[in-house]
Amino acid sequence: MSIELTSSTRYTTIAIALHWAIAIAILAMIPLGWWMSDAVLDPATRGQAGQAFQLHKSVGLTILALSLVRLVWRLTHKAPPLPQAMPAWEKAVSKTTHALFYFLMIALPVTGWVYTSAGYSVSFERFFPVATSWFGLFEVPHIGAIASKSEEARKTIGINTEFVHSKLAWGVIVLGGLHVAAALKHHLFNRDDVLTRMLPFLKPLRKAQ
Ligand code: HEM
Repeated sequence: MSIELTSSTRYTTIAIALHWAIAIAILAMIPLGWWMSDAVLDPATRGQAGQAFQLHKSVGLTILALSLVRLVWRLTHKAPPLPQAMPAWEKAVSKTTHALFYFLMIALPVTGWVYTSAGYSVSFERFFPVATSWFGLFEVPHIGAIASKSEEARKTIGINTEFVHSKLAWGVIVLGGLHVAAALKHHLFNRDDVLTRMLPFLKPLRKAQ
């Protein structure tokens, strides 16, 4: 049996749109980041890699802007309550996972932007400053507080932020796997509305608790 979801049992349309736009963009950014980091080292693919870097930076900065909007939206619009039958430990894991997602959604693009602003390429092991053009429309400035530092400091910042940037991407993969597994568990086994309130065109498999 299915039930109609009311506004109090699902996320707002804005929250749902931001959730899926950011999720799909982040999922696409990880293989793109891996591919371009390798492709830039091969003279045969260096040209395409250069375009991929610009696309990666443009989408990444858009993710940052959307994530900030989403964070403000989340702080000003209450999420629908979790099912009453959900044990306290699971509610705590769910809240912690969501907080970590917000951290990653902001820290990943910020470390990318800091790395770009330092102008040091870990792939070429030398300074290789490249301006960021947002989808070819306008130039996004480097972060002044980073770009104005000494070469020594920028090299250290570049190496460390690229390291953190690549490890945070693995954080998204692990957390994303847990998140999807939990959503499917709720839909298929608990048969509650945890997945359908973020995917309203799906109906809960039976009446939500
Ligand atoms: C949520 C957004 C983002 C995700 C998921 C993401 C993910 C990744 C991944 C997986 C890599 C490959 C790392 C490796 O294994 O070496 C990468 C590389 C890179 N990212 Fe991002 N990124 C994001 C945002 C950004 C932003 C906003 C910028 C800059 C404005 C940026 C700049 C770069 C650059 C320049 C590299 C290449 C590093 C190198 O090989 O020189 N990223 N990114």
